[in-house]
Amino acid sequence: MENYVVIITGANSSSGIGWATAMEMAKKQPKAIYVTDIRDDQLPILAKKLQTDYNVDGIARKVDASSEDDVKAVVDEALATYGRLDVFFANAGICLLNQLHNETKTNFLKTMEVNAWSVLTAIQHASAAMEKTSEAKPKSGGSIIANASIAGIRSGAGPISYSASKAAVVSLVQSSAWRLKGKNIRVNTVCPGFIATDLTQPAINALNDMNPQAALDQNPLERFGEPIEIATTVTFLASSESSFINGQDIRIDGGFGRSYRHVPLFGDA
Ligand SMILES: NC(=O)c1ccc[n+]([C@@H]2O[C@H](COP(=O)([O-])OP(=O)(O)OC[C@H]3O[C@@H](n4cnc5c(N)ncnc54)[C@H](O)[C@@H]3O)[C@@H](O)[C@H]2O)c1
Repeated sequence: MENYVVIITGANSSSGIGWATAMEMAKKQPKAIYVTDIRDDQLPILAKKLQTDYNVDGIARKVDASSEDDVKAVVDEALATYGRLDVFFANAGICLLNQLHNETKTNFLKTMEVNAWSVLTAIQHASAAMEKTSEAKPKSGGSIIANASIAGIRSGAGPISYSASKAAVVSLVQSSAWRLKGKNIRVNTVCPGFIATDLTQPAINALNDMNPQAALDQNPLERFGEPIEIATTVTFLASSESSFINGQDIRIDGGFGRSYRHVPLFGDA
């Protein structure tokens, strides 16, 4: 990722996937990482760590990922400052807890706006910037990664609107990979399972209150995932090491979504 310029959304929380990904990518020595979020109380700390720990330009910017103007502004700034954009990790997301019968149009549309529209507008503006060439970057190219979820692939892993928004993310990425044909711009999703972050803390607490073993039994690895376990795959997808992976939804869930629950009748099979 040498010389790469990277933008990450939703990176403010030190226990989140965006933060872990910025730190992981920095090991690959890109030129600059823009760390952005709608909240910016922790962002400057992250930006400084990128600089001091890895000598990577860390730039903190307050960006509402669902605002086209905000997304365009940070993309334009990266282009104006460095003359290139190579990686966009559309990671910001929200999870409102309503289910089928108490969901509201307001919550549904808000979830779609923050989780899915944010990805579409990121793909639009990031891909236009990734096409720009210069002496330093003679060929169009880049990698866009969106954070979807296994909730977007099968039911039962998240609230109804959240799951629908993540299914939309998977679809947007599949379509975009083709729409960007010939431009050397790859678009993929990561689909995490249950990862211990601020987003899932209320659910983890509730599960532990009910029955800690039942919570662990949800997964063949008998644990929740860690943000770094998503960050390593996102970094791989961002780098040239994954140069032929395009239009994919990559599940990182410890095996949670791959099987129906064990049927006792079949013994240990
Ligand atoms: N934790 C999990 O189990 C899990 C599983 C699957 C997918 N994901 C996805 O991973 C992504 C990161 O979540 P996380 O688990 O690291 O939680 P997190 O709460 O640490 O990260 C989400 C970040 O998004 C930011 N954000 C919210 N609305 C925003 C907006 N409009 N603009 C910009 N930033 C905004 C929040 O401030 C927060 O920093 C989300 O898209 C989430 O849906 C998480």
